[in-house]
Amino acid sequence: MSSIIEDLIARKIFNNRGEETIEVDIITPNGFGRASAPAGKSRGKNEVVYYPQAGVDAALKKVDELIAPELSGLNADFQEEIDNTLHEVDGTANFRSIGGNTAFAVSLANAEAAANSHGLLLFQFLGGTAANTLPYPLGNCISGGQHARGKAPDIQEFLALPHGAETFLEAATANALVHKKIGDALKKKSAAFNGGKSDEGAWIANIDNTEAFETIAKACEEAGNEMDFECGFGIDVASSSLWKEKEEKYIYEREGTKRDTAEQLEFLLELIEKYHLAYVEDPFHEEDFESFAELTRKAKNCLICGDDLFTTNNERLDQGIKVGAGNAIIIKVNQIGTLTDATETIENAQRHGFTTVVSHRSGDTCDWHIAHLAVAYKCPVIKTGVVEGARVAKINELVRIEHFLGNRAKMADLRVT
Ligand code: PGA
Ligand code: ZN
Repeated sequence: MSSIIEDLIARKIFNNRGEETIEVDIITPNGFGRASAPAGKSRGKNEVVYYPQAGVDAALKKVDELIAPELSGLNADFQEEIDNTLHEVDGTANFRSIGGNTAFAVSLANAEAAANSHGLLLFQFLGGTAANTLPYPLGNCISGGQHARGKAPDIQEFLALPHGAETFLEAATANALVHKKIGDALKKKSAAFNGGKSDEGAWIANIDNTEAFETIAKACEEAGNEMDFECGFGIDVASSSLWKEKEEKYIYEREGTKRDTAEQLEFLLELIEKYHLAYVEDPFHEEDFESFAELTRKAKNCLICGDDLFTTNNERLDQGIKVGAGNAIIIKVNQIGTLTDATETIENAQRHGFTTVVSHRSGDTCDWHIAHLAVAYKCPVIKTGVVEGARVAKINELVRIEHFLGNRAKMADLRVT
């Protein structure tokens, strides 16, 4: 069996928003790997640069002229070597030469090609026989903020988290039920609701934060009763997009409210208590480690998760660990560029008791690699929507993995109560 890279092919494809993105194929004598890169809309300031200045076409040229010649002949089994080579070819601190999304697609395609060369599925290749736990799906049901157009809640995402489920299939079923119940409730509430959905497949409705909380709380309670296990929920505040530096306030436009940092903290603590929120992502803007830490100390039974705060960057995570900012971290491999970089961050997070949440992006393709990463690295949560093709691609891959594992499969260890 040989995992020597024979060929590397890059092409331009589209994500669910119709934006151009990069897809890479890697070919070995015994295997094949393919990966395509996602794209964020509410991006963190500290993410790597996605593409060279001239866009995807320039990235494809970099693959042909610089990356393919360097990687051809290397052994795909040695992921770190491949990823280090990508850093060397790029030569910058934030992948602005070859593009972070270029690095991402090559890195993931390589991992897949290596796994395939050994006749293994990606999660088996990366995680070995210990990789038998399935993540809980954290599913976006109502969109607001930067993910919505027109009138919608100020908070970006209202997310179902069926943490009482005993299998992944049950958990995914619960999320689909919650999503459907919310759609039905929104229709009942207003004849003007026309079933609009965001890029992530979550409903977009002309409601405010409070109405969104009430709607998802009711849907989760009903779904929990029907399914006979607890369905919790949480939010992604995506606070960096609400924060106005000049005023030093979070602007809730729809609500007509402004909150300073202390008021934001109080607001969130009240919400966590009132709705028993299991999950709060980016409660403060991306430079406010201190307030993250204060909320983490004060909130009970709730994951306080950093997305824009950490941007999957190990140095930023170290900063957070030092002050106790958060107890959970979003892992988006394309925020940092390569699988090796992301794995370092995951391992560091897990060593320090952080819950790792592998995540899609709002602009995504039907690439399902994050499903395998969640299982391989025992991430207790995967954030990947409920409906819409790019989301379901990941959900269904996890259903397949659970089926494949049979009675060896179990749910990950997740404590939110
Ligand atoms: P994205 O954001 O649009 O950058 O993917 C989603 C999120 O904030 O989690
Ligand atoms: Zn986020």
